Amino acid sequence: MSTSAPSHNQLDTKAEAWSALFSEPMSDLVKRYTSSVFFDKRMWQADIQGSLAHAEMLSAQKIIAAEDFAAIQKGMAQITSEIEAGSFDWKLDLEDVHLNIEARLTQLVGDAGKRLHTGRSRNDQVATDVRLWLRGEIDLIEGLLKELQRSLVEVAEKNVDVILPGFTHLQVAQPVSFAHHLLAYVEMFKRDAERMLDVRKRVNVLPLGSAALAGTTYPLDRERVAKTLGMEAVSQNSLDGVSDRDFAIEFTAAASLCMVHVSRLSEELIIWMSQNFGFIKIADRFTTGSSIMPQKKNPDVPELARGKTGRVVGHLMGLITLMKGQPLAYNKDNQEDKEPLFDTVDTLKDTLRIFAEMIGGQLNPATGAKDGGITVNAENMRAAALKGYATATDLADYLVKKGLPFRDAHETVAHAVKLATMKGVDLTELPLAELQAFNPNIEADVFEALSLEGSLNARNTLGGTAPAQVRAQLAKHLARLA
Ligand code: ARG
Repeated sequence: MSTSAPSHNQLDTKAEAWSALFSEPMSDLVKRYTSSVFFDKRMWQADIQGSLAHAEMLSAQKIIAAEDFAAIQKGMAQITSEIEAGSFDWKLDLEDVHLNIEARLTQLVGDAGKRLHTGRSRNDQVATDVRLWLRGEIDLIEGLLKELQRSLVEVAEKNVDVILPGFTHLQVAQPVSFAHHLLAYVEMFKRDAERMLDVRKRVNVLPLGSAALAGTTYPLDRERVAKTLGMEAVSQNSLDGVSDRDFAIEFTAAASLCMVHVSRLSEELIIWMSQNFGFIKIADRFTTGSSIMPQKKNPDVPELARGKTGRVVGHLMGLITLMKGQPLAYNKDNQEDKEPLFDTVDTLKDTLRIFAEMIGGQLNPATGAKDGGITVNAENMRAAALKGYATATDLADYLVKKGLPFRDAHETVAHAVKLATMKGVDLTELPLAELQAFNPNIEADVFEALSLEGSLNARNTLGGTAPAQVRAQLAKHLARLA
């Protein structure tokens, strides 16, 4: 053994962490470049959890002594309290969270600490840690997605009979219930939650036991470790287990889609709260003023969410590109999976939390009800729905019911809309006689069909905007989210 070998209880520098093979230290720049500890230390709980499960199995399999496992448990408990207290000395020299914790363990418990890494490599260790960490985050995201859906459903419940113009091409198309509009987003976030749960199944697989790449010579009981860690399966190929990050890519893809949904909602909130629409207001605490224009209240939060969507989609591109050129098995490239993944999780969680509150408001302990959510201006919505001949399709449908083929009815209504436009009035403001000139079968009941309420009520098929349908959907969502 060389004289420069580490002391038995100390592993203080990275060169020492490797072996006597290394004859020169790294420069500070290279250390900084290769080290990940200042971002991967956030996985410390997963790292300790994974190590304890591994050590428990090593001891059950008689690969290490029961006393060694006891010492490892004791050391890890001490490390846990040090990290929680903020007194743990994270060392850049020790590269990453794994080596930092292992070095401290050895410092605390001696040889038992050095036995922990038996039958394990940092390659299967890090793959396990990322999966454990991400699984926990997915569960939190799941909860936040539910909160956001609840907020939307709560606002929807109060706005079933509030009518706004539905748009296609951002041109007035047909009137819809505001609740129906909000429930469209509930459907999107419901699918996002389902996607997260689906990704979770493939995240929750144990790579530990793959060792560096080829498996290990020790009689490990991988199923036992998986069971201890609550993992649903054990990876079936060691090369694959240590090297693929498809689960992280999949998660980021699901997160990107979810952010895209948030971004579309943001775009609508921004349009709706502009002076030209005036459909809603969001609470002041989600807006900012302008340093030059005193009248301004800007929708910063929805705008930032729209912007941050680009950031998350960027992380998806980053991760997928990170993977594409890597030969099997583990390559250091994979250390670059962490920052985009962490930032995706942080951005998504913050966004979901803030949107749930911005839309639904926050619980007022004094009243037990929520306040401070979006304020709906039903009059402005209605006025907007009355512009742009939103019920023209209803006139066509009315004529079809009187026996006209749909294409002819469509043409007839186009003429009626032309006349109304020339006169600067709504279809309902044309006298019955003038309407009858287009088609003699038109009767006085046409005005009911052309009203906003009539238009909504007529769309009484599954998934339609009739208040009866919307109430039925609301009941389903409420039961599901209870
Ligand atoms: N910090 C490394 C990572 O994030 C841990 C695995 C290192 N393995 C290795 N063979 N250098 O990927």
